[in-house]
Amino acid sequence: MCSRFPAGFLWGVSTAAHQVEGGNENNQWAAWEQAGRIKSGDRSGKACDWWNHAERDFDLAQEIGVNALRLSVEWSRIEPREGEYDWQALRRYRQMLEGLHQRGIQPMLCLHHFTHPLWFEERGAFLRRGAGERFEHFARLVVSELGDVCQHWVTFNEPNVYATLGYVLGEFPPGKRGRILEAVALVNALARAHTRAYHAIHAIQKQAEVGWAHNFVVFQPANPRSLLDRRVTRLVNELFNESFLRLIEQGKLAFPLTLVSGDLTEVKGACDFVGLNVYSRFHVAFDAGIAAQMFARVFVPPHVPQGDHGVEQPYGEAYPAAVRVAVERVARLGKPIYVLENGVPDAEDRIRPWLIVNVVQELDRLLRSGQDIRGYFHWTLTDNFEWSEGWKLRFGLVALDPETQQRTMRNSGRLFGAIARGNCISPEMIRQYLPAGVDSAPKSLIPSEPS
Ligand code: BGC
Repeated sequence: MCSRFPAGFLWGVSTAAHQVEGGNENNQWAAWEQAGRIKSGDRSGKACDWWNHAERDFDLAQEIGVNALRLSVEWSRIEPREGEYDWQALRRYRQMLEGLHQRGIQPMLCLHHFTHPLWFEERGAFLRRGAGERFEHFARLVVSELGDVCQHWVTFNEPNVYATLGYVLGEFPPGKRGRILEAVALVNALARAHTRAYHAIHAIQKQAEVGWAHNFVVFQPANPRSLLDRRVTRLVNELFNESFLRLIEQGKLAFPLTLVSGDLTEVKGACDFVGLNVYSRFHVAFDAGIAAQMFARVFVPPHVPQGDHGVEQPYGEAYPAAVRVAVERVARLGKPIYVLENGVPDAEDRIRPWLIVNVVQELDRLLRSGQDIRGYFHWTLTDNFEWSEGWKLRFGLVALDPETQQRTMRNSGRLFGAIARGNCISPEMIRQYLPAGVDSAPKSLIPSEPS
């Protein structure tokens, strides 16, 4: 018997402007690329050429059979200089959103997916006084212009990833390391900007559904019997997974972070749904040598299921049960939940089908246990520009050659399509991708050595 999902469940794919549009030269990531900060040395370049031909990939999304697609608008196109607007860019976004509707695909639009205009970065981005007002202004403009063709809004993508990679690990612009207090200040500033945008969007569009996309990682003490490993794991979890969530849930951070955050009660309850981006599990060990990372060595043991290796580090353990841990945590907010990203870098499609079937099974169980999950969006439709890893990591249901722009459907694209079109997962899929007797991961999913 096929296990059916609720009617109207959204089966989607997620994308982000800078990773797919091509030709974005006026944001802080373009400057980062030009400065040679991408580990592979790549540039986003033409990306997936969406600015000219997004419709080619919308056709593929339709062919796969999804009924939803998450995309983002590029602020630096819409407001290339402070206070100057490019109406032609807004018209192009309208065309894209209409193109999705014409194909029976519901759009979900994100306002900030890691990129913003250079002028905004140069003035100190979100840490600068008045930044929240600028973002609210941008949100108002986008929703006033596009609100008739979009109802679901994601304010920020992964405030915790932006803060951690930009201010603690130095992998994202502005490339700072070990600045824990600045990272906390950024999370607070993003929560305030999110709340402003949340109210502004509702003032313009009564029926709007507004949330944010929260990256949730499962952290596990490397040695569960070690007190230090457990302590440092708790700290990493608190800072990474909990900080933004707590602000929305309670309007304050946990003590002693409250000492630096000030009063954030206005943030409490400011969302209509929680978006979850869930990929992996990491192990955490105490390491006296890395004070800048709060003595936490975060790593992936070699014997766990993994996709392809990044330029310097493993991407993470492919851990389908992370979805369960994440959903059960954010359910405490009492809001509907969308899984807005989940996937694995896997050029050969070695592990992705296994991941999809396992995660969909987890969702099925969670729904049966009463969780209010409204949709699952896979990251991503076609291979695209993967931030500091450049073109090295391939997350697409569809393979892309960025030189020739040739697209090739992967098996996982066909599999995900069958699930989406049927709104169910069949016993055959489970038999094929979860071999009998294997309740964790088949051996073939564990890479023998990094490529
Ligand atoms: C980001 C995406 C990224 C994906 C895979 C997410 O954290 O939102 O932009 O491509 O992970 O790394």
